Amino acid sequence: MFRSETDTEVLPHLIERELKAGGGDLEQAVIRALSLVEGAYAIAVVSADYPDEIVAACNSSPLVVGIGEKELYLASDELAFGGKVGAVAHLKDGEVVVLKRNGSYTFRGIPLSEVKTRLEKPSVVDEVNKGGHAHYMYKEILEQPQAMRNVLAGRLREGNPVTFGGFTPDIEGRLRDARRITLVGCGTSLFAAMAGKAFTERLSGVVCEAEQAAEFYYRDPAITSGDVVIGISQSGETADTLRAMTLAKERHALCLGVTNRVGSALSKRVRAGIYLHAGPEVAVASTKAFTAQAAALMLLAVHLAELKKCPVSEELVGRLLLLPALMADTLRKEDEIKRIAYQCKDAKRMIVIGRGYGLPLALEAALKIREVAYIDAHGLSASELKHGTLALVEPGVPVVAVMPSGALRDKMLSNLEEVKARGGRVILLEPPQDLPDELVPIVLAPLVQLLAYHLGVARGVDVDQPRNLAKSVTVE
Ligand code: AGP
Repeated sequence: MFRSETDTEVLPHLIERELKAGGGDLEQAVIRALSLVEGAYAIAVVSADYPDEIVAACNSSPLVVGIGEKELYLASDELAFGGKVGAVAHLKDGEVVVLKRNGSYTFRGIPLSEVKTRLEKPSVVDEVNKGGHAHYMYKEILEQPQAMRNVLAGRLREGNPVTFGGFTPDIEGRLRDARRITLVGCGTSLFAAMAGKAFTERLSGVVCEAEQAAEFYYRDPAITSGDVVIGISQSGETADTLRAMTLAKERHALCLGVTNRVGSALSKRVRAGIYLHAGPEVAVASTKAFTAQAAALMLLAVHLAELKKCPVSEELVGRLLLLPALMADTLRKEDEIKRIAYQCKDAKRMIVIGRGYGLPLALEAALKIREVAYIDAHGLSASELKHGTLALVEPGVPVVAVMPSGALRDKMLSNLEEVKARGGRVILLEPPQDLPDELVPIVLAPLVQLLAYHLGVARGVDVDQPRNLAKSVTVE
């Protein structure tokens, strides 16, 4: 009798039992074992008795075969192939593939001719390296001006309406006439969605919700064909977000996606989408994808406003075109933020506050500090402080403020008086002069990312691969 707390352990025991039960080879034993399990999995099975093959299978979890010159590869993400393959084949749910040492491969029940039609060019062509930097996270923070150029390229041109490849007239019509737009995502993508919600409602007047994907799914939302549901996901493989999109599709909503991964499961589950083209993001902590997602959602909000004939200020569009330069300016403030990080590195707790458009960035900042510095960081609206969290402010507790550039500035300053009165250490993140408030969560993002990064490095954390976390969460 076999007992285990770990689901992964169950499978090899089941396969071994099927092998011992006899009848057939490793592949058949794997298939029989998988018929006894339920849930999400992506597995590669090797056996000393079958040294020249690997049997792999997946269900609701990504698995991709990479075909190199002489080698065959298996991974949950093309990034792992590091540019060593000339073609890839993504497994569909329930599929089983056998890779042989002689370089041949068979997809069970699928003629090779058909498999050949499914081969794709790899979306990651180069070996992703750190570019001479100490960490992928740092490199990816510095890549944001270029990522901004990529997300704007071909979509926003001075004096022209925003255009998105793949948005057919039917899609544009349903977008224009949508009764509600719902942005769904998890973690950092959820905070980008929250920024998108504010942009969309402000510019187009259309009701827009930002929903945590799993909560959205299990809330049994009242979604109809008049709804537009947009999945936000860097990897395009996050199980909760995919499940939310499946539900939206079943309820006949127009499903769109915003992702950084061509060929990802999300891109295959929606009618059309916006690729970020931010380049591979390797560090677990998402950085350039956050600002690229927020910028893409800002473009979508401008586009929707144009479709609905709502006026969009030339000044805002002008500043959108300046985003790459504005990000580069923000990055030049690194020394100051690094000095603050080293002063706060022993903090047991930190609080990050924002208001209006800055709130999603305050929430994102707290997540980054938790993720890569392991500091108990709370993100919230400054207006919420006196409703409870102010109790956490003691002398020396760092309170980071994402300062608005617009009307809410005075409100924020009076909230900060409450903090100073309790001895909190106030750290102001100031937007550039005259920056439209809408752009604060994008332009100030590198500051909070660098703060978290330097806090993590100062505390000796493996900032690229923090404990207990995965780059894409492919199980519920
Ligand atoms: C962010 O730094 C984290 N890695 C995590 O919260 C991430 O944003 C979340 O898992 C969603 O990932 P996705 O964008 O690939 O769907």
